Amino acid sequence: MNSTLIDKLNLVADGLAEHGFAIIDDFLSSQEVQPILELDEFKNGLLQFKKAGIGKLQDKQINEAIRGDYIQWVDRALAPPSIQAYLAKQNELISFVNQNLFLSLKDYEVHMTIYPAGSYYKRHLDQFKKDDHRKLSVICYLNENWKEEEGGQLRIYLPEKHLDVLPAAGRLVCFRSDQLEHEVLAATRPRLSLTGWILDQYAELRHL
Ligand code: OGA
Ligand code: MN
Repeated sequence: MNSTLIDKLNLVADGLAEHGFAIIDDFLSSQEVQPILELDEFKNGLLQFKKAGIGKLQDKQINEAIRGDYIQWVDRALAPPSIQAYLAKQNELISFVNQNLFLSLKDYEVHMTIYPAGSYYKRHLDQFKKDDHRKLSVICYLNENWKEEEGGQLRIYLPEKHLDVLPAAGRLVCFRSDQLEHEVLAATRPRLSLTGWILDQYAELRHL
């Protein structure tokens, strides 16, 4: 592992231990982000992606009022090299936090995500009542030259205040899925990311 990755993973572990979250800039370099943006999935955008749902909720209107993003799950066996490079770093992250925070995280699941302009995700927790296997939420943003006035902040709710994080390309946000309430504010342009969860079970055992 190169030393800059170790430095970043140290920041992740320290942030999680001290505050329950960490924000790491340049987790992916712009050279690593670029080929991900060039993938057909992101280029074709909403043609290939599916509307994201909330748990088993069937009511489309309620769903729409809560979240407006479109997703495509990553199939690791078929993922192109640009995504594999990210997944390799995610594996390093799992080993690192397991060793340093004495956790027993086992696996992860990741989807590509597009929030069309104007869409949002209301305040929520990432752990569902019937599924507490999501331990860490990990989001990597892919938006080059994102400006504050374009919105799309990830709003993290802390006990006394909230923190707004711009979805800037290469930035990684990692937080405890069971503890941190958060929301995605509407943006004036499409907002792209890789969104994932680190699990305390093997991904293939899920959805059985
Ligand atoms: C989610 C989520 C935050 C973001 O997908 O559950 O909260 O900044 N995403 O995209
Ligand atoms: Mn969330």
